Amino acid sequence: MTEIRIQRTRATEQETPLLALALFEGEAELMGEAAEVDGRLGGEITRILGRGDFKAKKDEALVLYPRPGEIAAERVVLLGLGRRAEYSAERLRRAVGAAVRQAERVGAASLALPLDWADTLGDDRRGRHAARVAAEGAVLAAWGFREFKTRQEDEAAHVEVGALTLLVGSDEDAAACEEGAREGEIVARAENLARRLAAEPGNVATPSHLAEIAREIAERHGMTVTVLGRDEIEREGMGAFLAVARGSEEEPRFIVLEYRGEDAGDGGPLALVGKGVTFDSGGISIKPAERMEEMKFDMSGAAAVLGAMQAIAELRLPANIVALIPSAENLLSGRSLKPGDILRSRSGKTIEVVNTDAEGRLLLADALSYALRYEPRAIVDAATLTGACVIALGHHAIGLMANDDALAAEILAAGEATGERCWRLPLWDEYRPQLDSDYADLKNTGGRPAGTITAGWFLREFVGDTPWAHLDIAGTAYGDPRAPYLRKGPTGVPARLLVEWVRTRATR
Ligand code: BES
Ligand code: MN
Ligand code: ZN
Repeated sequence: MTEIRIQRTRATEQETPLLALALFEGEAELMGEAAEVDGRLGGEITRILGRGDFKAKKDEALVLYPRPGEIAAERVVLLGLGRRAEYSAERLRRAVGAAVRQAERVGAASLALPLDWADTLGDDRRGRHAARVAAEGAVLAAWGFREFKTRQEDEAAHVEVGALTLLVGSDEDAAACEEGAREGEIVARAENLARRLAAEPGNVATPSHLAEIAREIAERHGMTVTVLGRDEIEREGMGAFLAVARGSEEEPRFIVLEYRGEDAGDGGPLALVGKGVTFDSGGISIKPAERMEEMKFDMSGAAAVLGAMQAIAELRLPANIVALIPSAENLLSGRSLKPGDILRSRSGKTIEVVNTDAEGRLLLADALSYALRYEPRAIVDAATLTGACVIALGHHAIGLMANDDALAAEILAAGEATGERCWRLPLWDEYRPQLDSDYADLKNTGGRPAGTITAGWFLREFVGDTPWAHLDIAGTAYGDPRAPYLRKGPTGVPARLLVEWVRTRATR
């Protein structure tokens, strides 16, 4: 776990194994702390920039070795932010991630970063904001999942970067940066919790395990938690959710976490819903064996919602939130759901099951209709819902669908602010007939064309007129690292996006 410290030391005097200097591309003349360091290094940085060996492009990082006595730091790492005109918080998050990777490579257990350059940016991106984003980058980058590694040599080869020191110019800056860094830490730890839960295998991260984690979060932060088991889920009439859970010996859990913020008023809450399929074999419509192990990540939506709830509570955001997590395993047995089965959902709508592998929308349908009893002001769900989303948008955008333009705009903005970017897909009426069933109110798949959209349309059938947005995270929840602060495996997406969205809703 990375510790974030704030200090009022000059960069040249900071004793650290690694001093990180963030630079903009195409700006030959250095300013502030970077210029001072360059002066002590005899113009070394200016020469490197002049030669073009380091251009300060996005994600670029170069380690330099000062001569003894030049500065107090053992090493310097130059970080590229790319062009000033293209600057966004994500550039800094990435740069700090790149610095942590370099620290790991050279065996530096901590690093320091002056923030004076951020003062040259627009108002809202000054110290406090830069501190928050830098803290996020560091805490996210330092995360790893080693719970099941027992070999000693692995431990030795792995350097944990334990601390980031942010260097600021005044006491006033220090106070603002302390606050920003604390926020960044909270949000990044929330995402790291989501990453850990998603990384844990299906035999560990069971529905009961998710319920336990929800209980812990609730206890720590004074939230209300309610966990329904198989019988209660049945009594609630959640026939679609229950049908998915029926094929497994593992007990399903319907998890309800309620957070009441101070000064949040008595209006309806915001509802967050996360798909919590702890392993998706496909059921009777079984998936191919190849890469089936990846389907332990099918609870990434649930993991992100749990992470977001932790952060919302720690930040004490003035909002009322209800989080709903339907969690089950999609397995095969003599009791499994079969193609052709017709289910009665909690809403009363009947569903013809065409494919048992389209299970996420079944459990979400009941969770969404359960959400309506809170009369929420808006519902946002997150789900690794369709392989088609991976085909449509690849690994760089969350598929966003919504029945409300204003809510969609809020989600898009939260995605830009956090680097968890979304792309909206249409829920036009023309797509709806693909879900028409000969025997029931609707069927659970709409065929191959626009598979992400028809899945979204399916969910829309269960939210009524409540403003609702659906995030298909099948392509973004895990995979190869797409930013220097990530690693191979789960990303924790969209935990930070959800917190950001709640933050923007809370302050109005
Ligand atoms: N969990 C999967 C979706 C998924 C696939 C996520 C690949 C990440 C990577 C979901 O339950 C599923 O199996 N969806 C089916 C739906 C189809 C049967 C209509 C799919 O996408 O193939
Ligand atoms: Mn499936
Ligand atoms: Zn699934």
